[in-house]
Amino acid sequence: MFTRRHFVAATALTSVSLLTRSNISAYAARSEAPLPIPQLIDAKANANAVSLTIGQGVHAYRPGQSVPSFGYSAPVLGPVIRLARDERVDVTIENKMSRPTTVHWHGLVIPGEMDGGPHNSIPAGDRWKVSLPVDQPECTAWFHPHPHEETAEQVYSGLAGVLIVEDGSGERMGLPRSYGVDDLPLVLQDRFFDRRGAPIYQPGPMDIMAGYRGDTIIVNGAVAPIARVPAGLVRLRLLNGANARIFDLRFSDGRSFHAIASDGGYLATPVRLRNLLIAPGERYEVLIDFADGSEVMLETGADQNVPMMGMMRGAAPFVGGGSVMKFQIDPSQRAAVTSVPKHLVDMPLPDRSKAVARRQFLLNDMIMGGMMGGMGFGRGAGRFGPAMTINGQPFDSDRIDVETKLGTMEVWEIGSQMMAHPFHVHGTQFQILSLNGQVPPLHLQGWKDTVLVAREAQILVPFKQTAPRDHPFMFHCHILEHEDAGMMGQYICS
Ligand code: C2O
Ligand code: CU
Ligand code: CU
Repeated sequence: MFTRRHFVAATALTSVSLLTRSNISAYAARSEAPLPIPQLIDAKANANAVSLTIGQGVHAYRPGQSVPSFGYSAPVLGPVIRLARDERVDVTIENKMSRPTTVHWHGLVIPGEMDGGPHNSIPAGDRWKVSLPVDQPECTAWFHPHPHEETAEQVYSGLAGVLIVEDGSGERMGLPRSYGVDDLPLVLQDRFFDRRGAPIYQPGPMDIMAGYRGDTIIVNGAVAPIARVPAGLVRLRLLNGANARIFDLRFSDGRSFHAIASDGGYLATPVRLRNLLIAPGERYEVLIDFADGSEVMLETGADQNVPMMGMMRGAAPFVGGGSVMKFQIDPSQRAAVTSVPKHLVDMPLPDRSKAVARRQFLLNDMIMGGMMGGMGFGRGAGRFGPAMTINGQPFDSDRIDVETKLGTMEVWEIGSQMMAHPFHVHGTQFQILSLNGQVPPLHLQGWKDTVLVAREAQILVPFKQTAPRDHPFMFHCHILEHEDAGMMGQYICS
């Protein structure tokens, strides 16, 4: 069960458990269970009414090891909800947990009142009814809890689901779209498991600083699963739903694949890749060709994103690479799609010279401004201990950090110190103008709501939805421990 432990204070900067977790143990304990495919709810076929119940269930991350878990109308994770563009979808959410939560629609461009951030709290036992106006290009988005200071723990406990927005364009392009056959959602996460197979969430100060990373990768809630796919093109909707781990995905035989969409929808043309970095909060849709009929492993490289500082290096929770899951060919399934389209969508780029403001956001690790100054665990520190900040200020739900004007665009410059941070903005999809001083690579030239900032990024952010003072939009680091520890701000739009 998820019990909140009191986090050890500043004296325990190095915890023993951190030193022992250097490699992924997933395939040491091969489970070879079939890939779980979440239930698909097509909102339109349901008269645009969807009900979700948040509650405790029983789930086996590893076969035979049933443990308590949390999910949205599911033992763990939630259904994949398909939303049609230009429809209004009435969602009713019942919180059957014994603690408050919120449901945030990450990637949907909708007004602040419906966004599900920390200001949309659903008390224990209560219901939240929200009507989502779906008006954006076809994409893969997701939903997850966003309660004040408890996002990390609630997501880790199992709460996350995938959203698909459809506008007919993928169908016109002839992309794979048989759900569960050649169109698979893959929710990538990592966990520490105890001997009974239950996830452990006990972050110490070091984990808050680096982000909590487990030694075992799970896909759709299963350790080392196997997907059986047709011998043709298969579309994977990749979601990094991990608290902190960055996946560097590639195939064991080195085969290339094509990225066709990023967070906010399709790229202009498919981008051929051999590896793909996906940071917490990000989504990519990729096409893999299985026509050669051979079995292959999806693997990840090591995640080296830890605070770069001499005194920490020895104890940093650096995690090695390893296998994620296996793909096997099922000859009984027909390959519906066999060729990658040449062109996907026209992407008229917004004119950056029309930006009405330029703002800077410095993602400060507490290490520099805090601990080094001897106050990281003192005043201004979050309830997790170390305080994380943006422009030197930890999150304050009563403070509006930025005021924007509806219908305008701004250039935001984000700087990261000490380690890379995946910067996420609610209520919009933006364009990356530059990444560490360079033009971003092709697969990062589409619409995004989350960008991994290693050193600095410039993004062009359009404001197309309103957010009033009592329901502002958030912007934050999507390493969930950083978010909860204060690396978050809020903006309004009118
Ligand atoms: Cu995916 Cu503010 O979150
Ligand atoms: Cu979001
Ligand atoms: Cu961060």
